Amino acid sequence: MKKYGIMMMLVLISVTLFANGQSDTQADNGKEQYVIGMSQCNLGEPWRVQMNADVKKEAEKYPEIKVVYKDAQNDTLKQRAHVEEFVSMGVDLLIISPKEAQPLTEPVAKAMEAGIPVIVLDRDLVSDNYTQFIGADNVKIGKALGEWVVSELGGQNAKVVELMGLQTSTPGQDRHNGFTDAIKGSDIEVIFNADVKWLEPNARTEMESALARFDDIDLVYGHNDPAAHGAYLAAKAAGRENDIMFVGIDALPHEGVAYVKDGILNATFQYPTGGDVAIREALKILNGESVEKRIVLGSRIFTADNVNQGGAAID
Ligand code: FRU
Repeated sequence: MKKYGIMMMLVLISVTLFANGQSDTQADNGKEQYVIGMSQCNLGEPWRVQMNADVKKEAEKYPEIKVVYKDAQNDTLKQRAHVEEFVSMGVDLLIISPKEAQPLTEPVAKAMEAGIPVIVLDRDLVSDNYTQFIGADNVKIGKALGEWVVSELGGQNAKVVELMGLQTSTPGQDRHNGFTDAIKGSDIEVIFNADVKWLEPNARTEMESALARFDDIDLVYGHNDPAAHGAYLAAKAAGRENDIMFVGIDALPHEGVAYVKDGILNATFQYPTGGDVAIREALKILNGESVEKRIVLGSRIFTADNVNQGGAAID
Protein backbone atom coordinates (compact mmCIF):
# COMPACT_ATOMS: atom_id res chain seq x y z
CA MET A 1 0.00 0.00 0.00
CA LYS A 2 2.80 2.34 1.05
CA LYS A 3 4.75 1.45 -2.07
CA TYR A 4 1.69 2.17 -4.21
CA GLY A 5 1.29 5.60 -2.57
CA ILE A 6 4.89 6.55 -3.30
CA MET A 7 4.54 5.41 -6.88
CA MET A 8 1.40 7.48 -7.35
CA MET A 9 3.22 10.48 -5.94
CA LEU A 10 6.10 10.01 -8.35
CA VAL A 11 3.68 9.73 -11.26
CA LEU A 12 1.94 12.91 -10.12
CA ILE A 13 5.24 14.78 -9.76
CA SER A 14 6.43 13.77 -13.21
CA VAL A 15 3.10 14.68 -14.82
CA THR A 16 3.31 18.11 -13.16
CA LEU A 17 6.93 18.60 -14.25
CA PHE A 18 6.10 17.52 -17.79
CA ALA A 19 3.13 19.88 -17.93
CA ASN A 20 5.30 22.78 -16.68
CA GLY A 21 7.99 21.99 -19.21
CA GLN A 22 5.39 22.02 -21.93
CA SER A 23 3.73 25.23 -20.81
CA ASP A 24 6.67 27.21 -22.21
CA THR A 25 5.91 25.96 -25.65
CA GLN A 26 2.13 26.29 -25.57
CA ALA A 27 0.43 29.49 -26.69
CA ASP A 28 -2.74 30.69 -24.89
CA ASN A 29 -4.83 29.12 -27.61
CA GLY A 30 -3.26 25.74 -26.80
CA LYS A 31 -1.27 25.62 -30.05
CA GLU A 32 2.45 24.96 -30.09
CA GLN A 33 4.46 28.08 -29.32
CA TYR A 34 7.77 28.82 -31.03
CA VAL A 35 10.61 30.40 -29.08
CA ILE A 36 12.69 33.03 -30.92
CA GLY A 37 16.02 34.16 -29.46
CA MET A 38 16.79 37.83 -30.15
CA SER A 39 20.48 38.68 -29.75
CA GLN A 40 20.90 42.47 -29.67
CA CYS A 41 24.46 43.86 -29.66
CA ASN A 42 23.60 46.73 -27.35
CA LEU A 43 20.70 48.73 -25.99
CA GLY A 44 22.73 51.83 -25.15
CA GLU A 45 21.64 53.66 -28.32
CA PRO A 46 18.13 54.86 -29.17
CA TRP A 47 18.17 53.16 -32.56
CA ARG A 48 18.66 49.71 -30.96
CA VAL A 49 16.00 50.36 -28.34
CA GLN A 50 13.72 51.14 -31.30
CA MET A 51 14.71 47.88 -33.03
CA ASN A 52 13.75 45.80 -30.00
CA ALA A 53 10.51 47.78 -29.63
CA ASP A 54 9.69 47.08 -33.30
CA VAL A 55 10.36 43.36 -32.78
CA LYS A 56 8.19 43.32 -29.65
CA LYS A 57 5.29 45.23 -31.20
CA GLU A 58 5.13 42.91 -34.20
CA ALA A 59 5.65 39.73 -32.14
CA GLU A 60 2.73 40.64 -29.87
CA LYS A 61 0.41 40.15 -32.83
CA TYR A 62 1.21 36.44 -32.98
CA PRO A 63 0.38 34.27 -29.93
CA GLU A 64 2.24 31.36 -31.50
CA ILE A 65 5.64 33.01 -30.90
CA LYS A 66 7.52 34.05 -27.82
CA VAL A 67 10.67 36.19 -28.07
CA VAL A 68 13.50 35.89 -25.55
CA TYR A 69 15.84 38.92 -25.57
CA LYS A 70 19.54 39.17 -24.73
CA ASP A 71 21.53 42.44 -24.71
CA ALA A 72 25.30 42.03 -25.22
CA GLN A 73 26.00 45.57 -23.94
CA ASN A 74 28.33 46.30 -26.86
CA ASP A 75 30.61 43.39 -25.91
CA THR A 76 31.43 40.99 -28.75
CA LEU A 77 32.47 38.14 -26.45
CA LYS A 78 29.23 38.47 -24.53
CA GLN A 79 27.27 38.35 -27.78
CA ARG A 80 29.10 35.20 -28.89
CA ALA A 81 28.19 33.62 -25.54
CA HIS A 82 24.56 34.69 -25.98
CA VAL A 83 24.34 32.96 -29.36
CA GLU A 84 25.78 29.81 -27.80
CA GLU A 85 23.28 30.01 -24.95
CA PHE A 86 20.39 30.31 -27.41
CA VAL A 87 21.69 27.23 -29.24
CA SER A 88 21.93 25.17 -26.05
CA MET A 89 18.44 26.36 -25.03
CA GLY A 90 17.27 24.91 -28.34
CA VAL A 91 15.38 28.01 -29.55
CA ASP A 92 13.33 27.48 -32.70
CA LEU A 93 14.86 30.47 -34.51
CA LEU A 94 17.55 33.04 -33.85
CA ILE A 95 17.48 36.73 -34.80
CA ILE A 96 20.82 38.48 -34.40
CA SER A 97 21.91 42.07 -34.89
CA PRO A 98 25.66 41.48 -34.55
CA LYS A 99 28.11 44.01 -33.17
CA GLU A 100 30.98 42.94 -35.45
CA ALA A 101 31.08 40.90 -38.63
CA GLN A 102 34.03 38.56 -38.19
CA PRO A 103 33.69 37.34 -34.57
CA LEU A 104 29.97 36.57 -34.83
CA THR A 105 30.25 34.60 -38.07
CA GLU A 106 31.34 31.33 -36.46
CA PRO A 107 28.75 31.16 -33.65
CA VAL A 108 26.02 31.83 -36.21
CA ALA A 109 27.38 29.04 -38.44
CA LYS A 110 27.25 26.73 -35.40
CA ALA A 111 23.61 27.63 -34.78
CA MET A 112 22.87 26.76 -38.42
CA GLU A 113 24.72 23.46 -37.99
CA ALA A 114 22.52 22.75 -34.98
CA GLY A 115 19.49 23.15 -37.24
CA ILE A 116 18.41 26.57 -35.92
CA PRO A 117 17.41 29.01 -38.68
CA VAL A 118 19.07 32.43 -38.32
CA ILE A 119 17.96 35.89 -39.45
CA VAL A 120 20.79 38.46 -39.46
CA LEU A 121 19.51 42.00 -38.99
CA ASP A 122 21.16 45.30 -40.05
CA ARG A 123 24.88 44.45 -39.63
CA ASP A 124 26.12 41.62 -41.86
CA LEU A 125 28.60 38.79 -41.21
CA VAL A 126 31.60 37.76 -43.32
CA SER A 127 29.93 34.65 -44.73
CA ASP A 128 26.31 34.15 -45.70
CA ASN A 129 25.92 30.95 -43.73
CA TYR A 130 22.57 32.06 -42.33
CA THR A 131 18.99 31.74 -43.45
CA GLN A 132 18.32 35.37 -44.30
CA PHE A 133 19.76 38.88 -44.07
CA ILE A 134 17.48 41.89 -43.58
CA GLY A 135 18.75 45.47 -43.72
CA ALA A 136 19.03 48.68 -45.71
CA ASP A 137 21.75 49.11 -48.33
CA ASN A 138 24.47 51.10 -46.55
CA VAL A 139 26.63 51.59 -49.66
CA LYS A 140 23.62 53.16 -51.34
CA ILE A 141 22.85 55.38 -48.33
CA GLY A 142 26.51 56.53 -48.09
CA LYS A 143 26.47 57.23 -51.82
CA ALA A 144 23.20 59.17 -51.73
CA LEU A 145 24.56 61.19 -48.82
CA GLY A 146 27.79 61.92 -50.73
CA GLU A 147 25.82 62.97 -53.80
CA TRP A 148 23.73 65.29 -51.63
CA VAL A 149 26.93 66.85 -50.22
CA VAL A 150 28.30 67.36 -53.75
CA SER A 151 25.02 68.99 -54.82
CA GLU A 152 25.09 71.32 -51.77
CA LEU A 153 28.79 72.17 -51.64
CA GLY A 154 30.40 71.10 -54.93
CA GLY A 155 32.61 73.74 -56.57
CA GLN A 156 33.46 75.43 -53.25
CA ASN A 157 36.49 73.40 -52.23
CA ALA A 158 34.50 72.20 -49.23
CA LYS A 159 36.31 70.62 -46.27
CA VAL A 160 34.63 67.63 -44.64
CA VAL A 161 35.07 65.83 -41.32
CA GLU A 162 33.93 62.19 -41.46
CA LEU A 163 33.05 60.53 -38.14
CA MET A 164 32.77 56.87 -38.98
CA GLY A 165 30.80 54.01 -37.49
CA LEU A 166 32.67 50.99 -36.14
CA GLN A 167 34.95 49.86 -38.95
CA THR A 168 34.72 46.21 -37.96
CA SER A 169 30.98 46.37 -38.67
CA THR A 170 29.61 46.29 -42.21
CA PRO A 171 27.46 49.46 -42.05
CA GLY A 172 30.55 51.47 -40.98
CA GLN A 173 32.56 50.11 -43.91
CA ASP A 174 29.73 50.47 -46.42
CA ARG A 175 28.75 54.01 -45.41
CA HIS A 176 32.40 55.05 -45.84
CA ASN A 177 32.80 53.32 -49.20
CA GLY A 178 29.56 54.66 -50.67
CA PHE A 179 30.38 58.21 -49.63
CA THR A 180 33.99 58.02 -50.87
CA ASP A 181 32.73 56.78 -54.21
CA ALA A 182 30.19 59.60 -54.54
CA ILE A 183 32.63 62.45 -53.87
CA LYS A 184 35.35 60.99 -56.11
CA GLY A 185 36.16 63.44 -58.89
CA SER A 186 34.55 66.37 -57.05
CA ASP A 187 36.44 69.07 -55.15
CA ILE A 188 35.04 67.91 -51.78
CA GLU A 189 37.94 67.06 -49.51
CA VAL A 190 37.85 64.89 -46.37
CA ILE A 191 40.38 66.62 -44.09
CA PHE A 192 39.81 64.54 -40.96
CA ASN A 193 38.32 61.14 -40.32
CA ALA A 194 38.04 58.95 -37.25
CA ASP A 195 36.30 55.75 -36.18
CA VAL A 196 33.95 56.91 -33.42
CA LYS A 197 32.40 53.43 -33.17
CA TRP A 198 28.83 54.78 -33.49
CA LEU A 199 29.08 56.60 -30.15
CA GLU A 200 28.14 60.22 -29.49
CA PRO A 201 30.73 60.90 -26.74
CA ASN A 202 33.53 59.63 -29.03
CA ALA A 203 32.24 61.87 -31.84
CA ARG A 204 32.29 64.88 -29.57
CA THR A 205 35.91 64.22 -28.52
CA GLU A 206 37.10 63.63 -32.10
CA MET A 207 35.32 66.77 -33.27
CA GLU A 208 37.11 68.77 -30.57
CA SER A 209 40.40 67.59 -32.10
CA ALA A 210 39.23 68.46 -35.61
CA LEU A 211 38.12 71.94 -34.51
CA ALA A 212 41.45 72.53 -32.80
CA ARG A 213 43.36 71.50 -35.93
CA PHE A 214 41.28 73.13 -38.67
CA ASP A 215 39.95 76.69 -38.88
CA ASP A 216 37.98 75.84 -41.94
CA ILE A 217 35.42 73.00 -41.71
CA ASP A 218 32.33 73.15 -43.94
CA LEU A 219 30.51 69.92 -43.15
CA VAL A 220 30.52 66.97 -40.77
CA TYR A 221 29.38 63.58 -42.04
CA GLY A 222 28.41 61.46 -39.05
CA HIS A 223 27.80 57.81 -39.95
CA ASN A 224 24.84 57.96 -37.56
CA ASP A 225 22.81 60.75 -35.97
CA PRO A 226 24.46 60.38 -32.53
CA ALA A 227 27.86 61.01 -34.24
CA ALA A 228 26.56 64.07 -36.10
CA HIS A 229 24.96 65.37 -32.90
CA GLY A 230 28.14 64.83 -30.84
CA ALA A 231 30.04 66.86 -33.44
CA TYR A 232 27.39 69.58 -33.33
CA LEU A 233 27.75 69.84 -29.53
CA ALA A 234 31.55 70.20 -29.84
CA ALA A 235 31.15 72.91 -32.51
CA LYS A 236 28.55 74.70 -30.41
CA ALA A 237 30.86 74.71 -27.39
CA ALA A 238 33.53 76.29 -29.64
CA GLY A 239 31.02 78.83 -31.00
CA ARG A 240 31.40 77.44 -34.55
CA GLU A 241 28.12 75.55 -35.06
CA ASN A 242 26.71 78.14 -37.48
CA ASP A 243 29.70 77.85 -39.84
CA ILE A 244 29.37 74.09 -40.30
CA MET A 245 26.73 71.78 -41.82
CA PHE A 246 25.92 68.50 -40.05
CA VAL A 247 24.60 65.36 -41.74
CA GLY A 248 23.76 62.00 -40.17
CA ILE A 249 22.02 58.66 -40.70
CA ASP A 250 19.18 56.86 -38.83
CA ALA A 251 16.37 59.45 -38.88
CA LEU A 252 14.49 58.23 -35.82
CA PRO A 253 11.43 60.48 -35.40
CA HIS A 254 12.44 61.62 -31.91
CA GLU A 255 16.17 61.84 -32.73
CA GLY A 256 17.53 62.67 -36.22
CA VAL A 257 14.25 63.93 -37.66
CA ALA A 258 13.73 66.14 -34.59
CA TYR A 259 17.29 67.48 -35.02
CA VAL A 260 16.47 68.46 -38.61
CA LYS A 261 13.28 70.20 -37.44
CA ASP A 262 15.31 72.04 -34.79
CA GLY A 263 17.94 73.14 -37.32
CA ILE A 264 20.71 71.09 -35.63
CA LEU A 265 21.21 68.71 -38.57
CA ASN A 266 20.98 69.81 -42.21
CA ALA A 267 20.01 66.31 -43.32
CA THR A 268 19.50 62.79 -42.04
CA PHE A 269 19.02 59.57 -44.00
CA GLN A 270 16.61 56.98 -42.68
CA TYR A 271 17.96 53.60 -41.60
CA PRO A 272 14.97 51.37 -40.83
CA THR A 273 15.46 48.86 -38.02
CA GLY A 274 13.73 45.98 -39.84
CA GLY A 275 12.49 44.62 -36.49
CA ASP A 276 8.91 44.19 -37.73
CA VAL A 277 10.02 42.61 -41.02
CA ALA A 278 12.21 40.14 -39.10
CA ILE A 279 9.23 38.83 -37.14
CA ARG A 280 7.09 38.41 -40.25
CA GLU A 281 9.93 36.57 -42.03
CA ALA A 282 10.61 34.45 -38.92
CA LEU A 283 7.00 33.24 -39.02
CA LYS A 284 7.35 32.21 -42.64
CA ILE A 285 10.54 30.27 -41.84
CA LEU A 286 8.93 28.59 -38.82
CA ASN A 287 5.96 27.61 -40.98
CA GLY A 288 8.30 25.94 -43.44
CA GLU A 289 7.90 28.51 -46.21
CA SER A 290 10.95 29.45 -48.26
CA VAL A 291 12.16 33.03 -47.93
CA GLU A 292 14.45 35.37 -49.88
CA LYS A 293 18.12 35.23 -48.91
CA ARG A 294 18.38 39.04 -48.65
CA ILE A 295 15.70 41.61 -47.96
CA VAL A 296 16.88 45.16 -48.73
CA LEU A 297 14.98 47.89 -46.91
CA GLY A 298 14.50 51.36 -48.41
CA SER A 299 15.69 54.73 -47.09
CA ARG A 300 14.52 58.36 -47.12
CA ILE A 301 16.26 61.71 -46.87
CA PHE A 302 14.99 64.37 -44.47
CA THR A 303 16.03 68.01 -44.87
CA ALA A 304 14.52 71.30 -43.69
CA ASP A 305 12.66 71.50 -47.03
CA ASN A 306 10.88 68.16 -46.83
CA VAL A 307 10.85 67.16 -43.15
CA ASN A 308 7.26 68.27 -42.66
CA GLN A 309 6.17 66.20 -45.66
CA GLY A 310 7.78 62.99 -44.34
CA GLY A 311 11.06 63.28 -46.29
CA ALA A 312 11.74 61.85 -49.76
CA ALA A 313 12.67 58.34 -50.89
CA ILE A 314 16.25 57.85 -52.15
CA ASP A 315 16.80 55.78 -55.26
C1 FRU B 1 23.11 51.64 -33.37
C2 FRU B 1 23.70 51.99 -34.67
C3 FRU B 1 22.85 52.92 -35.50
C4 FRU B 1 23.39 52.62 -36.82
C5 FRU B 1 23.47 51.13 -36.77
C6 FRU B 1 24.40 50.52 -37.71
O1 FRU B 1 23.96 50.75 -32.70
O2 FRU B 1 24.95 52.55 -34.45
O3 FRU B 1 22.96 54.24 -35.10
O4 FRU B 1 22.66 53.11 -37.87
O5 FRU B 1 23.85 50.83 -35.47
O6 FRU B 1 24.49 49.16 -37.52
